[in-house]
Amino acid sequence: SLQSEIAGVKFDNLMLNAAGVRCSSIKDLNEILNSQAGGAVTKSATLEEREGNESPRMKSLPLGSINSMGLPNHGFDYYMAYVLKEQSEGRNNIIFSVAGLSIEDDLKMLKEIQSSNFNGLVELNLSCPNVKGKPQVGYDFEAVERVLTEAFKFFDKKLGLKLPPYFDLTQFDAMAEILNKFPIAYVNSINSIGNGLVIDPATETAVIKPKGGFGGIGGEYVKPTALANVRGFRLRLKPEIKMIGTGGIKSGMDVFEHVLCGADLVQIGTAFGPEGTPIFDRISQELEDIMEEKGYHSLDEFRGKLKTL
Ligand code: DHB
Repeated sequence: SLQSEIAGVKFDNLMLNAAGVRCSSIKDLNEILNSQAGGAVTKSATLEEREGNESPRMKSLPLGSINSMGLPNHGFDYYMAYVLKEQSEGRNNIIFSVAGLSIEDDLKMLKEIQSSNFNGLVELNLSCPNVKGKPQVGYDFEAVERVLTEAFKFFDKKLGLKLPPYFDLTQFDAMAEILNKFPIAYVNSINSIGNGLVIDPATETAVIKPKGGFGGIGGEYVKPTALANVRGFRLRLKPEIKMIGTGGIKSGMDVFEHVLCGADLVQIGTAFGPEGTPIFDRISQELEDIMEEKGYHSLDEFRGKLKTL
């Protein structure tokens, strides 16, 4: 079985979409929910609807993708209405992703969720690299502590955090020390590796338009960094904080590796883009074949059990 669970919320399959890819509209979200995916994550909502950055703003690459979408989304109220409607029909496997343009906006959205009937998982995105002039909050450790301190003064629902990748072990130590002070449901690592630059040497031009071509990198390029972040946090966070592994998943073996590093659930972004919802069937089958070959009957038998030399 590929079932998994976070904070009492059960998922029939550990694979979900990653926020941002094919999840902006109700139609997109329903397609995910009607697939083999264990649930759906909404496009990160901002308080107000946004058009996002100018195009071209995403490009598929041989080993992944670069994007500078700029948080195009239908606005908080659209997604709030959707998750409440689905919940009223008995569905609890939708993760509501929110990404304020400021800490004040984050707190406003969390307050609205707190005062609503929504009781599913909320994913606070502290790591969008693509809003012009806005830093990634996840790299400002004092700001992370401040937003969590303020949020948990009133928020008693299930809160997860989407974090950017970290690259130095002292960052893992410092961030885990902050996170362990709070009743966080899960940490989701990683968001894209921010502000990469992909160029076309034939035309001597950057391949996306916003920010002079700088954008978030996803796909195979980021898998080792993603695995290091999942493993790095799993070794440091208290066991009540679950992990979602995101980054570089395009096969059952990639999921297997994320689970070995400690992932409870995984999310698929870059590879879900071109392949669409059939990816969840394909990868589920691949993972089941790997588990059978290795003699594993459940994810728990190998979750977090990475060996080192
Ligand atoms: C966007 C891109 C991201 O990688 C992210 O985490 C959030 C938002 C975006 O540009 O829309």
